[in-house]
Amino acid sequence: MPHHLTDVDPAVADAVDHERERQESTLGMIASENHASEAVLAAQGTVLTNKYAEGYPGARYYGGCEYVDEVERLAIERATELWGADHVNVQPHSGTQANMGVYFAALEPGDTILSLDLTHGGHLSHGHHVNFSGQLYEVAQYEVDPDTGYVEYDALAARAHEVEPDVIVSGSSAYPREFDWERVGEIADEVDAHHLADIAHVTGLVAAGVHSSPVEHASFVTGSTHKTIRAGRGGIIMCDEEYADDVDSAVFPGSQGGPLLHNIAGKAVGFEEARQPAFEKYARRTVSNATALADVLRDRGLSLVSGGTDKHLVLVDLRDSHPDLTGADAEAALSDVGIVVNKNAVPGETRSPFVTSGVRIGTPALTTRGFGSEEIETVGHLIADVIDAPEDDATRERVSDAVDDLCESFPIYK
Ligand SMILES: Cc1ncc(COP(=O)(O)O)c(C=O)c1O
Repeated sequence: MPHHLTDVDPAVADAVDHERERQESTLGMIASENHASEAVLAAQGTVLTNKYAEGYPGARYYGGCEYVDEVERLAIERATELWGADHVNVQPHSGTQANMGVYFAALEPGDTILSLDLTHGGHLSHGHHVNFSGQLYEVAQYEVDPDTGYVEYDALAARAHEVEPDVIVSGSSAYPREFDWERVGEIADEVDAHHLADIAHVTGLVAAGVHSSPVEHASFVTGSTHKTIRAGRGGIIMCDEEYADDVDSAVFPGSQGGPLLHNIAGKAVGFEEARQPAFEKYARRTVSNATALADVLRDRGLSLVSGGTDKHLVLVDLRDSHPDLTGADAEAALSDVGIVVNKNAVPGETRSPFVTSGVRIGTPALTTRGFGSEEIETVGHLIADVIDAPEDDATRERVSDAVDDLCESFPIYK
């Protein structure tokens, strides 16, 4: 911790130190999290936080923007190269703000969004009633097939013809399979809707080419920049050239004020790291680790939504194997031994969002630490041990010791 922070504000400095220690000493398996590099952290903690720069590079409402223009241009250039979109906006403060930018660019209040139901893997910003998206727009939803756990595209097409949406949203928070972006694009064309592909979770996997890209098949693509892509925290919008001006004005002045240039610097640095050959290896390993984790959990008798995964996460449905154990119980028991996951609704969920019947488990952060399939298989068995005996003291002690050993062997920040 820099001494000046400790001197000026020991309370915040202590909390930051404790958080760093928590990350080092536990296994972070929340699928939306990752560990940014020291370089990304450094970029985010700079004087760029001081600068107002409403507008876009070369066209700002404030003076003194020559250096922040350079930073934002670098972030845009690198993102354009990574994802291959016509136009990129790197200003959204988060993935949710990115979706807001697209809705504001493409829809009028009262228009209809067709999106994946939250309990089937969707996201709050895809039209949930507690989110602005569910309050400003009409919302219709599609679901995964109850037998296979996969999105069924004929059913999606039928739903689209029935509700005639203005936008079809693909992409997800907890759906473990790749979307067929092309098919969703065709369905959107059939009903004259826009296709918004939200790749929040898989930005890094798509950039590395280990997950298919929706860029050719969607008029708008949104993402978070701190998940699998491991860059500075925030959001990003990509779109076809014809929507560039609408998207830019929907972000600023439509829904945000001054851009967070320190975060945009963190995005630029993370994107530069993602352009290096090592990143493709990282992304590939993130997916192979998730597959290895799925294999172990399945062998140990746990049900996985859709039976497995194509990407960086698995969704365990506890109802078959452990009907009395809730997602909240499993999350708490795992957290007690240093394995940090999140409870998650599963398709057909009957419990409340605070309880749930599932846990979502991801591999991006452990892969950043250097875990390979051998360590992930060990972790899979530890998770299954705890789920099988959440209250057994001997199990908890043994798993906790094993977690300590793994964390010590794979430090995050040297
Ligand atoms: C599919 C999807 N979209 C949007 C978001 C929102 O991202 P943020 O938390 O950056 O607002 C998430 C977050 O996990 C997500 O999973």
